[in-house]
Amino acid sequence: MLEKSIAALLEEGRKNTGEEVRVRGWVRSFRSNRFVALNDGSALDSIQAVIDRERVDLQTLRGVTTAAALMVSGTIVESRGREQDIEIRVRELAVLGRADLRALEQTILQPKSHSLERLREQAHLRLRTHTFGAVFRIRHATSFATHRFFHENGFFYLHTPIITGADAEGAGALFNVSTLDKKNAPLTRGGEVDYRRDFFGRETHLSVSGQLEAESGALALGKVYTFGPCFRAENSNTSRHLAEFWMVEPEMAFCDLVGDMDWAERFIKYVIRYVRDNCQRDLAFLDARQARAQSKKPARAGSEMGLLQRLDFVLENDFERVSYTEAIEILKRSQPNKQKRFQYTIDGWGADLQGEHERYLVEVHYSAPVIVFDYPARIKAFYMRLNDDGKTVRAMDILFPEVGEIAGGSQREERFEPLLRRMAEFGIDPRELDWYLDTRKFGSVVHSGFGLGLERLLMFVTGMGNIRDVIPFPRTPKNAAF
Ligand code: 4AD
Ligand code: MG
Repeated sequence: MLEKSIAALLEEGRKNTGEEVRVRGWVRSFRSNRFVALNDGSALDSIQAVIDRERVDLQTLRGVTTAAALMVSGTIVESRGREQDIEIRVRELAVLGRADLRALEQTILQPKSHSLERLREQAHLRLRTHTFGAVFRIRHATSFATHRFFHENGFFYLHTPIITGADAEGAGALFNVSTLDKKNAPLTRGGEVDYRRDFFGRETHLSVSGQLEAESGALALGKVYTFGPCFRAENSNTSRHLAEFWMVEPEMAFCDLVGDMDWAERFIKYVIRYVRDNCQRDLAFLDARQARAQSKKPARAGSEMGLLQRLDFVLENDFERVSYTEAIEILKRSQPNKQKRFQYTIDGWGADLQGEHERYLVEVHYSAPVIVFDYPARIKAFYMRLNDDGKTVRAMDILFPEVGEIAGGSQREERFEPLLRRMAEFGIDPRELDWYLDTRKFGSVVHSGFGLGLERLLMFVTGMGNIRDVIPFPRTPKNAAF
């Protein structure tokens, strides 16, 4: 007998009428003691299985409840209901896993919709909802498209370490990794913890970015990318920050900042196009979901576009490219700045852009994704290429509607002496990064890269408003229960 995924059966539709099939999945709903909506996670939609009570004994029938796992075999027939093309007329049914009815009542399952916040506390239920099923299938497609894009373009996937001694961003928001006994840690003469006696013989932490390692990869393999988890102990409890998130970081030798922007724009559009073409049903569901949520909120500039419209808009239009200096001029002259409606008023060159400024540029001024480049050196990381003006660096941030910054990158400082000076300015001990500095001694060349936060891109693609809802097991301050 043919065993198929429900996605395949629904896709093939009436073509299979008359065939005998077997499917396995979980009960979404059961009504009139006869109609089971069975879902196996392969697609958003469930297949209707119609039970013939003559053929199923009472004991088995009792096990058919919401959330139970079933195996059903039967014939594919055209459905008389208007909701679906086909259904399965069940000949044989087995309950593979019963649902605990008391626990079920307590979690008040189905068919009511649950708040996203409450679902975060119920891992088992969360993943079985329509919304999260759609989000995580799209997350898979996004990851797959990422690998495909880079593979097709001659990049090599370089696995950079999760445990590292390098602080890639020099930002200091690190999770330490140590096997020392906290209560009895060995101390140096100066009274500090003696990490020479620790597992790695030095202080180590979870990586905030694979960039520095990717740079040495690019200077050997040409074009590489890393794609893995990054960890930041920023205590920022916002809807756009996670303590553990996934970053895509390509790094290209012989590539300057303009080339970097081109790669980033091509990559982002490729992934959105892939999801647009391959996740239509899930996107349509999320589009409708967002329209419902939107209709309950007061209208706001930029929010009149639906989810699908916004994806198409990004695909069809070039990203705006504007220097930091121009961006500051635009912001200085803007209405909200003149009327002191920004929380942080822009009054001169040099200030870091806040979320409110980024959103003004993207949602009000340009109504398009924006790449801001050539930032003041003082507010960016040590490894960025210093411009000839001596005060700006070849950095870029990619800003999207609703989400804000989804990627950041730069042309790297490839010259040994200037890099050393920048490190000194940031108080970074060159001995800590001697292996990195060495790459500047042996055939160093112009090279660039960027880092894209997978979850930020997913927020845009799925329309989910909180970053916690695009990752299966979110890690945020005071939250790592499961
Ligand atoms: O701008 P960031 O800090 O840049 C880097 O880490 C560079 N080393 C990247 C590179 O050039 N290879 O981080 C890059 C992106 C941000 O634009 C954002 O999308 C995401 O990573 N990101 C976060 N996403 C979720 N939670 C956090 N706490 C994030 N911090 C950064
Ligand atoms: Mg950044």
